Amino acid sequence: MLRFETAGESHGECLVATLTGLPAGVPVSLDSINHELWRRQQGYGRGGRMKIETDTAELVAGVRHSRTIGSPVAIIIRNKDWQNWTQALPVEDTEGSEDSKKPVTRPRPGHADLAGCLKYNFHDARYILERASARETAARVAVGALAKALLNEFKIHVLSHVIGVGSVRLERPVPWDEIVALSRKQEVLLGCVDPEVEQQMKAVVDEAYRTGDTVGGIFEVVARNVPPGLGSHIAWDTRLDGRLAQAIVSMQAVKGVEIGRAEEGAMSFGSKVQDTIHYQREERRFTRGANRAGGLEGGITNGQDVIVRGFLKPISTLRRPLESVDLETREASLAAYERSDVAVIPAAGVIGEAMAAIVLAEAFLEKFGGDSLAETQRNFAGYVEQLKNF
Ligand SMILES: Cc1cc2nc3c(=O)[nH]c(=O)nc-3n(C[C@H](O)[C@H](O)[C@H](O)COP(=O)(O)O)c2cc1C
Repeated sequence: MLRFETAGESHGECLVATLTGLPAGVPVSLDSINHELWRRQQGYGRGGRMKIETDTAELVAGVRHSRTIGSPVAIIIRNKDWQNWTQALPVEDTEGSEDSKKPVTRPRPGHADLAGCLKYNFHDARYILERASARETAARVAVGALAKALLNEFKIHVLSHVIGVGSVRLERPVPWDEIVALSRKQEVLLGCVDPEVEQQMKAVVDEAYRTGDTVGGIFEVVARNVPPGLGSHIAWDTRLDGRLAQAIVSMQAVKGVEIGRAEEGAMSFGSKVQDTIHYQREERRFTRGANRAGGLEGGITNGQDVIVRGFLKPISTLRRPLESVDLETREASLAAYERSDVAVIPAAGVIGEAMAAIVLAEAFLEKFGGDSLAETQRNFAGYVEQLKNF
């Protein structure tokens, strides 16, 4: 079973991630992990921190001579900002260390600050926000790069693009080639494949900058070449649509998820939104009239592209602070301000890719198993043969 964990605080020494369950023999390169980390840091609308941090991963376990060896893979990503926080967030309580804390006693609406303080019995939201912060997603992206490394061996590719920023929406269908071209760009604006719509998106972010506001948006993750048969209809927690939805909604600031064209379907008559079934005799394979289901029927992949969208709320931290209450005095006071992003939709797309890749890799290994890549490949080849002769 593939499972991952992350640890680390936003201004702590480092982020740590482990991934257990990858077969031995999967090629892993630090460059490709670092490239994914770089992609997570791009996009118009990011705050000052992205300028301080250029994330790089250290692979400290589970990979030897550029291949997995079957044991847990462990990754460290150091926080470059740690040097400014050693006094405020020391691991050990030393004399005088109380004075140099950077406490947050005015919880910020839209964050875990207040709920977390009530739950963990802190009067300083620093201890909550350090972990609730989306800085943690750097670790998820590093793990996602490992999941992608496995999937790539089976020609399965997972990418994303932005289809909405504020009220601006890309309305046209987007071919896979355009998403691939977008992923190769060296400069990322808002991650939209259409330059004209992207400029409209930029105008929305500019307005937010001007007015001290923030914006949310919608990203779409597409997985190509996913074989039919991942996930299962047999139980609620084996359904892959539900597992993907959880993975995407677990991301900071994601408040909604859409599989395929769910919203359009909900507003249409049933006759208008089905993916009809056809058969190509020469190639001996089933084809579909459309892919509104986003590659999933009954919680099982059906061989079409898997398509999942994430809906991001606008970033909650505003330059004009919101009303809050001081945890010590209980007096009305303005919420604390932490350096903040204005828009993060392209970055969220990259994190969404990572989460989708992890879920797909897990489902893939559930179906095909294997302690070594060669064994997984043999099992997969047998299934491909079964599909051919179906
Ligand atoms: C890539 C990324 C970067 C983010 N950066 C910020 C930020 O700079 N400031 C902020 O207030 N929220 C930011 N957020 C959102 C918060 O982390 C998130 O809203 C908060 O943790 C509360 O969680 P919830 O919105 O899921 O309830 C970011 C989210 C993502 C995905």
